[in-house]
Amino acid sequence: MPENQIEEVKGRTDIVAIIGERIELKKAGRNYKANCPFHGEKTPSFMVSPELQIFKCFGCDAKGDVFSFLEQYEGMEFPEALKYLADRAGVKLQKFQGGESSEKERLIEVNTQTLRFYNYLLLEHPVGKKALDYLMNQRGLKKETIQEFSLGYSPESSYSLKKFLVDKKKFTPSEVERAGIGIVRGSNLYDRFNGRVVFPLFDHRGNSIGFSGRVLPWDKRETGKYINSPETPLYHKSNVLYGLNLARGLIKKKKTAIVVEGELDLISSWQAGIKNVVAIKGSALTEEQVKLLSRFAQRFILALDSDMAGDAATRRGIKVASDMGVEIKVAEISGGYKDPDEAARGNIESYKKDLIGAKVIWDFLIDSVFARNNAETGSGKSKISKEITPILSEISDKIVQAHYANVVARKLGVPLDAVSEEIAKDQKVSTGAPSGIEEKTEGRTKREVLEENFLKLAFFDDPKTLASKEISVLIKLPLNVKLIEEYKKFSDGTTFKISEFGKNLPRELFGGFSKMVLLEERDLSEKPEELKKELELVKKELKILAVKEKLEILQSQIREMEEKGDKNKLLEAQNKFNKLVKMRSTYEKENGSGIILNED
Ligand code: CTP
Ligand code: MN
Repeated sequence: MPENQIEEVKGRTDIVAIIGERIELKKAGRNYKANCPFHGEKTPSFMVSPELQIFKCFGCDAKGDVFSFLEQYEGMEFPEALKYLADRAGVKLQKFQGGESSEKERLIEVNTQTLRFYNYLLLEHPVGKKALDYLMNQRGLKKETIQEFSLGYSPESSYSLKKFLVDKKKFTPSEVERAGIGIVRGSNLYDRFNGRVVFPLFDHRGNSIGFSGRVLPWDKRETGKYINSPETPLYHKSNVLYGLNLARGLIKKKKTAIVVEGELDLISSWQAGIKNVVAIKGSALTEEQVKLLSRFAQRFILALDSDMAGDAATRRGIKVASDMGVEIKVAEISGGYKDPDEAARGNIESYKKDLIGAKVIWDFLIDSVFARNNAETGSGKSKISKEITPILSEISDKIVQAHYANVVARKLGVPLDAVSEEIAKDQKVSTGAPSGIEEKTEGRTKREVLEENFLKLAFFDDPKTLASKEISVLIKLPLNVKLIEEYKKFSDGTTFKISEFGKNLPRELFGGFSKMVLLEERDLSEKPEELKKELELVKKELKILAVKEKLEILQSQIREMEEKGDKNKLLEAQNKFNKLVKMRSTYEKENGSGIILNED
């Protein structure tokens, strides 16, 4: 790929638009900010700079340009991100040399062809007739639904899969194996899913990445009810949410995601008109799934087997979600139905009621502990305490936690203090690292803060000041000195553009410069009066700082001289000291110091 094509695509793309379509960006001065999509947080430390066309999270250090955003956020590979952006920007890409597609693209192709093959056999071929009967008559699926989910049938003999994929479509047996579909044994290629109804699995963008296969009721083989694709470069069990590719739009619109366990729970709900659903395929709700799903909705309703919602692994997922500010509720299926699949087919109105009446997760967990134990006896209370304390200490919002501590104390008939103490004990044992690291001011010297403040004001709103003599004396930190040198080299004294300047900066300076740009939340370009005032103030603060620094050095010299008894030099130094003190107080009077930095 010619380098200039990448640049062309980049040049015609606005990172703010691309990111803004995916997460909510808020204007912050000259930049945009958001809650970081790559780690859990409630206060934004994710910044996007339109001028530099980069993003950076000051909490988790995710950063990069528009390509790396798509790679990290959408899981695209570079060629895919490039193609996506080129299409949007109307840039015609020249082909990669050799036309080789990446391994992943190739494996997606194997999966896609396989799903068409299985789907054809189920719907069109006599070999799939019995399976189709099962789905339609025993599982109540309409043809239209079967088609929407591209369900299929894998025949009992592996022969036809090989014939189709290898002989006709020219995939190698090894590729079919790497795609998770076949198993190579000598010169044979076995179909992993043979004799099963198959549910194609997609990633959230609709790429075909694997399958799960369900046995048919009359199958006499001793195997699990379901088998899934093994881990492949495409399929990672813990990342996949079944149905998300179809449901994501509605989940976003309804601001709610319903989470069920099985493929058929999802499909039946969908067919009955409840479409903002995903399925976790019988495993625990993982952290990865939570992060993925929280991009689309901030409320999850779990309609899982009730053991499942209390399961330790799922509780971890729940904690991650609630730390991210996601509201989690638990729906219990009523009416004697075994699962959402049965409820959706049996009595859709009662199923809907169950979903609407879902309990807040903490109420659900607390209620289920009380339901299992006797709150009247001492030993019962002790059991309840052991089970409930870890739940309460998982609630990171202190106000919510206090609310539930109260609820539990009341239910147990014990003083609130007793419950609070147990929570405190539990949290002492399990303190994690604090999240939401503040990088902005922590541990920085006054000089660092002031110089940066000055450079930001100057670069953004009055770059010419950077070339003045006065400034070259006041700015001392190496990065800043170098940036000013670069400015003098770069600028012709008339127009100045941050974006162009950024592009031309040496690599080792770009990091520091971009940080400065990204952390700027003011925009004074339309208030020249205020800008001027601020610039003057910072300049004066810098002058005072320079005097203070000199005073400190002088003071330690004076101490040394006093020890040595060097009277002449001592007198000279003391005079100098007094002059500096006077100078400082003049500056301070002019300036009303502390306006800019409200510290010390
Ligand atoms: N599952 C699996 N492997 C198994 C059993 C189950 O991956 N050996 C997953 C499937 O996604 C399944 C879900 O766990 O849909 C729930 O399993 P289960 O409750 O046993 O089955 P149902 O969903 O009720 O399956 P069905 O309605 O098809 O009988
Ligand atoms: Mn079921």
